[in-house]
Amino acid sequence: MLVLGIETTCDETSIALVENGFTILSHVISTQIDLHQEFGGVVPELACRRHIDIITPLIAETLKCASVTLEDVGLIAVAKGPGLIGALLIGINFAKGLAWALKKPLIGINHIEAHLYAAMMSESPEKLKFPALGVVLSGGHTSLVLIKKIGEYTRIGETIDDAIGEAFDKVAKMLDLPYPGGPQIERLAQGVDPHAISLKPGKVKGKPFDFSFSGMKTSVLYKLKGNNLKRETEVTHEEKRLIAASFQRAVFQDVIDKIILAIREYPVEAIYLGGGVTQNKELRTLLENAVSLPVYWPQANLSLDNAAMIAGLGYHKFMACPEDMLFTVEPETRIPF
Ligand code: KG4
Ligand code: ZN
Repeated sequence: MLVLGIETTCDETSIALVENGFTILSHVISTQIDLHQEFGGVVPELACRRHIDIITPLIAETLKCASVTLEDVGLIAVAKGPGLIGALLIGINFAKGLAWALKKPLIGINHIEAHLYAAMMSESPEKLKFPALGVVLSGGHTSLVLIKKIGEYTRIGETIDDAIGEAFDKVAKMLDLPYPGGPQIERLAQGVDPHAISLKPGKVKGKPFDFSFSGMKTSVLYKLKGNNLKRETEVTHEEKRLIAASFQRAVFQDVIDKIILAIREYPVEAIYLGGGVTQNKELRTLLENAVSLPVYWPQANLSLDNAAMIAGLGYHKFMACPEDMLFTVEPETRIPF
């Protein structure tokens, strides 16, 4: 079955054609970083306008790349949330119009769940291992889930304040680095002692798998501005590098400690990771060295927001429950996962 995937939850417009959940025939991602960079973060109204402008040409380009027509599509899968309400409405209404006109079924997909599925797409289906631990590390979410099989999850931990990517973006802003901050911090931290500055992630009482990053963000602010926020000397580039490296290491050590705790407590056979922060090479190296279980990462073009993961997961969800959501799918800005 050929699935057309549509992703417009935030600041990427992406369209993909995926066969039977795994084979990507074509995939385009149009990122809006250029549009939002001068504001230091995503401006929802601008994001929406760009989605509207390019969604139709992107569909045409995706079909052309795969040498197929809309008639060949068997299912349309659209990201239904979480995300920006306006941006979600554009993707969903576009998908509804298309499904209605083509008389094809439509399915709404949870974007966070799709981030985890992205790590499974690179593997041949028979090799996927369950039960597994799922780790979502994105700009909007940080969670640990037990995966019984695709579609069956139990959340064991989440962030109680900032998401991990959000913490990277906010700390980067304090260091005068452009948006998005994660890759900038990774670059600045390269080759620097990550233990130079002591930064401690928060602990959540009675919830060993929950995360808290906002305290660390405040600690970085004090390092930069002084304890009374009246530091008189300029922070040097070298000091910024030490802060970036120490922050990155402290955050990743916290994630890895919780992963180790989880795999000791729960009988899992693999770890699947998803979300933009999994692009970070330092994280990949640290985790691979810390655990002996197989670790699955999304391929480079599947870690940030993308439509291939939406189409891929859409296939499995539809096969398990072939419900046409044409009249029921609605944007859900916050979906528990
Ligand atoms: O998954 P994603 O595209 O967004 C959400 O669905 O929320 O992830 C975007 C996040 C941003 O916060 C960005 O700073 C972070 O992923 N990110 C990184 C890296 N590349 C992207 N964080 C750390 N290191 C990176 N190399
Ligand atoms: Zn995302």
